[in-house]
Amino acid sequence: MRKNDATLQLSKEAMRTYGYKVVDAVIDHFDTQYKKLPVAYATRDEMDDLFKEDIPEKPMDADAVLEFVLKEVMTKSTIVSHPKTYSFVPGPSNYIGAMADTLATGFNIFSGGWAASPAAAELEIITMNWLLKIFGFPVVKGGGIFTSGGSMANLTALVTARRIKCGDDFSKGVIYISDQTHSSNIKAIRVLGFKKEQIRVIPTNLEFKFSLNKLKNAIAKDRLKGLKPFCLIATAGTTNTGTVDPLSELSAICKSEDLWFHIDGAYGGAAILSKNGKSLLRGIEKADSLTVDPHKWFYQPYEIGCLLVRNTKHLTGTFTEKPEYLKDVEGNRSEINFYDHGIQLTRRFRALKFYMSIKTFGLQEFRKAITYNIELAEAAEALLRKSPNWEVISPATLAVINFRYNPIDSDLSEKELDKLNQYISGKVVDSQKALLVTTLLHDQVVLRMCLINPRTTLTDIRETLNLCDEFAEEYKRS
Ligand SMILES: Cc1ncc(COP(=O)(O)O)c(C=O)c1O
Repeated sequence: MRKNDATLQLSKEAMRTYGYKVVDAVIDHFDTQYKKLPVAYATRDEMDDLFKEDIPEKPMDADAVLEFVLKEVMTKSTIVSHPKTYSFVPGPSNYIGAMADTLATGFNIFSGGWAASPAAAELEIITMNWLLKIFGFPVVKGGGIFTSGGSMANLTALVTARRIKCGDDFSKGVIYISDQTHSSNIKAIRVLGFKKEQIRVIPTNLEFKFSLNKLKNAIAKDRLKGLKPFCLIATAGTTNTGTVDPLSELSAICKSEDLWFHIDGAYGGAAILSKNGKSLLRGIEKADSLTVDPHKWFYQPYEIGCLLVRNTKHLTGTFTEKPEYLKDVEGNRSEINFYDHGIQLTRRFRALKFYMSIKTFGLQEFRKAITYNIELAEAAEALLRKSPNWEVISPATLAVINFRYNPIDSDLSEKELDKLNQYISGKVVDSQKALLVTTLLHDQVVLRMCLINPRTTLTDIRETLNLCDEFAEEYKRS
């Protein structure tokens, strides 16, 4: 007889009531988020006052805990899927993906090896093959792995690159990145034990693209010093400006110099589903490894990143260990154990949300949403260019645009303009009405909008710019 009063359990009815409350809360969030203020702000002291307690030894009523969490916890996070969350890389998400994640967690599916969950492994293979095809990678020879995000995908790529190109001795290895390369790559390089002197940061040109001539010079100098150039990281959609590095040219350099060609497409990769993006991303199919990040512009809830590789054997050769306790579940060669493709053994079933949302909406809805985002950024650029108050600093590229307040009749110095734009951003964020923070481009403080939310409208952007105008006036009066 199954024991019904085992501990850490709820009755069937209690589970149902509880589950419905959770689902209702998620639906309300999806339905009403645009009416809420997107920005959460609280000090550590305020959070300590609310939450700090000794570990509770005694049970509490489940509903009371849930109510407390819904009221106090879920309301104190920035709404990254809010139409007026413009900063960093927003997380627009989608309901099917969220429910799929709930299923994957509810069934607690182990997505490490084939033997434990053949269907989960198969769906990872299927969705990975869709991505390989989308990005023009070889489907039979190629492969990949879903990771927690772009950072882990980049790390997985660099571990692989180092093994393939350097073997065990990487003391002379040199990696080339640009000054716009995402910090997760630098973190990965440092995690791998490379010294700072083994990282060459190549300055970008005026358009924030990898400077080819400077790169060639750097490689030649390193060879003269007896070092071993082995890897280049290009970016397909930089975080700051959405810029795509000259991928075909960089690929040719990698080929002639025998470098591993990694492309970080965590931000911009998804744009391949639009016409404009496809043409900007030409050459992406030439990478040895490519990071894409479905929890960004493929509209998936956190966490799902992805690494694609041209040759799966490069992954299995790097990550396969054969401990005695996994001997009985090895399976045959076609039955993929994803624990042999990356760092994690126990993995959640990330492929499910991607699979279910693509099947439900069809790829065409994703194409539509991505195209809309790119066109929205272009419309925002046109709006800014028509205004006497605003200056576009980097044009709309893959749904990112940078601009700053600089009225045509202004006699403010660069320093004062920096201060003014910093002030505008600070005030907008403090108002909690929009998340619009600054970045630095060519030493200028600029406001940056990343417009990958399909629910953001030009009216949202207009309202946000009006808010900025108000704070600019306030600054001038002060
Ligand atoms: C270009 C790029 N690479 C990597 C990352 C890191 O991805 P994640 O935050 O999913 O780890 C980001 C995040 O914004 C990014 O923009």
